[in-house]
Amino acid sequence: MIHEITRRESLAGALAVPIAPYATVSSDEAGLDAAGRRSGLRFGSALSAWAHGASMDNPAYAALLQVDCGLLVAENEMKWQHLRPAPGQFDFAAFDRIMAWAAQHRMAVRGHNLLWQRRKWMPTWLERYDFGARPAKSAGEILVNHITTVTRRYGKRIASYDVVNEAVTPETGALEETALSHALGGTEATLDLAFRTAHEQAPHAELVYNDYMSWEPGNAAHRAGVLRLLEGFRRRGVPVHGLGVQSHIVTAGLDTGGSARSYERDWRHFLDAVTGMGYRLLITELDVRDNGLPADIVVRDRGVAEYARRYLDVMLSYPQLRDVVAWGLCDRFSWIGPVERRADKAARRPCPYDADYRAKPLRAAIAQALAAAPPRPA
Ligand code: XIL
Repeated sequence: MIHEITRRESLAGALAVPIAPYATVSSDEAGLDAAGRRSGLRFGSALSAWAHGASMDNPAYAALLQVDCGLLVAENEMKWQHLRPAPGQFDFAAFDRIMAWAAQHRMAVRGHNLLWQRRKWMPTWLERYDFGARPAKSAGEILVNHITTVTRRYGKRIASYDVVNEAVTPETGALEETALSHALGGTEATLDLAFRTAHEQAPHAELVYNDYMSWEPGNAAHRAGVLRLLEGFRRRGVPVHGLGVQSHIVTAGLDTGGSARSYERDWRHFLDAVTGMGYRLLITELDVRDNGLPADIVVRDRGVAEYARRYLDVMLSYPQLRDVVAWGLCDRFSWIGPVERRADKAARRPCPYDADYRAKPLRAAIAQALAAAPPRPA
């Protein structure tokens, strides 16, 4: 015990010499995954296979991945819209390249995702599909075939899957429907079949339900819906092992401590309910929308870092959490900019590195949170 404390203190001490904000991090500095490993945590990021983006084919981005990540997630390449250009067709080329690069650099890959329960994110051909005279049978076959084909192809190379993504409507907590789930006889039946198939085909794998109910106000109905879904899985004996907390978190102004304090009680209540049912937790898509903060970059980045640190400290206080995955490392490629501009139109700064690949205070905050985390049980 004494040994443990000494080790952790000295590590925290080492990392408290912060990686200089806006400095280029060189590979001989301790990366985020290395910082986390000492407490039994892994750190990773999303990447893409598009050479001019957040990709391993972009040398500057690949360097960041190599410094900081032990775990990778394809930002889009495993989704139905990318893998399934047509009913009878799979296109694995892009995702295979990500798998190969990860293997070459000895990084794990999480599978994201086997079913995104949103009409908008399913292939158009499937939304318009003619399921014929026995729709439940034909829809079931399509889903089982998809999950079987993907999980068999990657076998033990993928040890954790977001089997289902975003099945709960945030405003109401109800379940989302797609053409596939409608034909199959309902969303519950569809999600259960997805998890049962994944478990059958990849019994070694951690199976996760992933969603974006977050700790900020306005998410009560979403959280309640997710809890109902997770309770239902347990009641029906569906093999689901963890909740992926996407963690697209949002600042509300400079008083990050005040925000965090006011969110923490309800958030812990939610996480306690989830872990109380025996689910693990994962941070699957961390980034920060810099709302309500001034445009000034120094002030803004500090606010983002402080807010994330408070969030991570709460999350990491749960020993059920072992993985922290950022939704991209570099502001230049973040999905947040295009989907939601700041009120003042200033470029968003949601990631650990700025648009020129320089480490920001957010990266130092993540390093310090990982280093300060209580060790995970062996
Ligand atoms: C996003 C990607 O980042 C975008 O490039 C794409 O256009 C849409 O999807 N929740 C998720 C992720 O589970 O898959 C989403 O990724 C972001 C929100």
